[in-house]
Amino acid sequence: MCGIVGYIGKKDAYPIVLNGLKRLEYRGYDSAGIALYDGKEIQLCKTQGKVSELEAKAEKNIPLRGNLGIGHTRWATHGVPNDVNSHPHYSNSGDLVIIHNGIIENYSSIKKELQNRGYTFTSDTDTEVLVNLIEEVKKQEDVKLGKAVQIALNQVVGAYAIAVFDRNKPDEIVVAKLGSPLAIGIGDDEFFVASDATPFIEFTNNAIYLEDEEMAIVRLGREVRVRKIKNDKLVENPYVQELQLNLEQIEKGGYEHFMLKEIYEQPKVIHDTYRGRLLADQGIIRLGGLEDYIKKFVNADRIIIVACGTSWHAGLVAEYIFEDMARIPVEVEYASEFRYRNPIITENDVVIAISQSGETADTLAAIKLAKEKGAFVYGVCNVVGSTISRETHSGTYTHAGPEIGVASTKAFTTQITVLTMMALRIAKSKGTISQSDYIKHLRELDMIPDSVEEALQGDEKIVEIAKVFKSAANFLYLGRGYNFPVALEGALKLKEISYIHAEGYPAAEMKHGPIALIDEQMPVVVIATNSNHYDKVVSNIEEIKARKGKIIAVVTEGDTTVRDLADYIIEVPLTPEALSPLINTIPLQLLSYHIAVMLEKNVDQPRNLAKSVTVE
Ligand code: M6R
Repeated sequence: MCGIVGYIGKKDAYPIVLNGLKRLEYRGYDSAGIALYDGKEIQLCKTQGKVSELEAKAEKNIPLRGNLGIGHTRWATHGVPNDVNSHPHYSNSGDLVIIHNGIIENYSSIKKELQNRGYTFTSDTDTEVLVNLIEEVKKQEDVKLGKAVQIALNQVVGAYAIAVFDRNKPDEIVVAKLGSPLAIGIGDDEFFVASDATPFIEFTNNAIYLEDEEMAIVRLGREVRVRKIKNDKLVENPYVQELQLNLEQIEKGGYEHFMLKEIYEQPKVIHDTYRGRLLADQGIIRLGGLEDYIKKFVNADRIIIVACGTSWHAGLVAEYIFEDMARIPVEVEYASEFRYRNPIITENDVVIAISQSGETADTLAAIKLAKEKGAFVYGVCNVVGSTISRETHSGTYTHAGPEIGVASTKAFTTQITVLTMMALRIAKSKGTISQSDYIKHLRELDMIPDSVEEALQGDEKIVEIAKVFKSAANFLYLGRGYNFPVALEGALKLKEISYIHAEGYPAAEMKHGPIALIDEQMPVVVIATNSNHYDKVVSNIEEIKARKGKIIAVVTEGDTTVRDLADYIIEVPLTPEALSPLINTIPLQLLSYHIAVMLEKNVDQPRNLAKSVTVE
């Protein structure tokens, strides 16, 4: 939710900040803006809409110049997405300029107080309130920018990653973080600040990730100084992380959309996720973060999984795997609900938090609550160094690489890969799986990348199916057991990128209500691959057929029974049921992708969404 980027150094800041905004656009694309400072004049350009619109406006109207620049791409919270509400925002004097990712919850009382003191506001944003609060503190306390930021932030309630500069200090940007991410790239006599490291990877491999309630003064010719916002304590030798990112990973690599590239990357990234961790021939699974805590899992009375969206669906798949293999009861909770309940957690419970971005506000809040109640919290995250990966006691990274398409694809399958390895490893220690089954599962997991590759070969057929159903108003997705969460995920993918209404259900639940929706207009996607419930699913298909619904079935290669019943079939390779979500998800991702493309929707940046949901 909102991306922020800044540069200070000897180079022309405009192309660096603009390019950075393009890379951060996945975080929000309601509006964009940029401010440049050359030591004499501050130039500001902002607009409703995407970064490309900002670029057109900036290059038409103003020659933007300066060695200091900040930029923002917005996912609107306070105030409609228009030019005025776009960031950056000036303070009343025009001396301070700010960009902000987050929400200042008590902005309205601060605004009234500032209005009483004569401040005026042009936008509806909480951010404009914050920059004027900083200005007021600076004036009243007669302090420099850094100190004023610190005092002001101690008065606000909410979440923020901010970058602010002062006209009177052309060699300095002040940044601070609570709840929203902030990375500082350290170059050779130049610095970068950004919501993640992608805007500066071609310039430096060294970054400091601020912790919550930390701020930094980024000044040319000096080392970055990091302080605790609450007590002003200097952080000695802040950890400088070496980045593993490369440019290729964040480019489209010849694909029309990031989403398609990410779908096709799945054989590789699933392999990357278990490479060096799963040694099938030796019967070994070794997950660094798990080994030290294996007893906690083995002795757990219960596992509670907290997550949102697609990560929650991965959690639902994990519920089946953990219960089947490790015989530990599992509850899967929406993080947003869990955080506002008074959940019963005992010392013998283990909480697993799943998040691609590692920044989702609801998941983060659920983790904090679970920790307060004394639970051990294990993270499954994709983004290295993200807040959730640091807030959890231990964890395992998925190695999906940067996921830029807003609709999650490869994050889902790599999360399932990690969770499957965890369940197998714990089952082994617990003695709930026989040695032969254990080895069999390891070998089968090792074959998954090839099966995903094969499933991707069904793409052309899926294009044909997409052509037939692209104008449907509704879709139903049905699956049973391990594939019930896959049905939910298929429906979510279709809704979020094509805006077609879709519902996922356990196939047997259809008769308890949704069956009323079925007529000759209703496409029903049924996951009917080999499983313990295959015959039951076939009966469900019969029920749909009897009501003239249009059946699109995902079946195991060579299936003849469903072929005779369904209107369209999509074949996938034979896979054991416990691993089948990794394969059956692929055609559903492709179906939603092709429908969205045919409907000319913005596949990578669907309306109203953002990749990292850092607000409640
Ligand atoms: O980064 P996270 O995995 O925590 O994100 C959770 C959801 O916001 C995310 O999965 C969302 O539902 C995606 N748009 C789904 O495609």
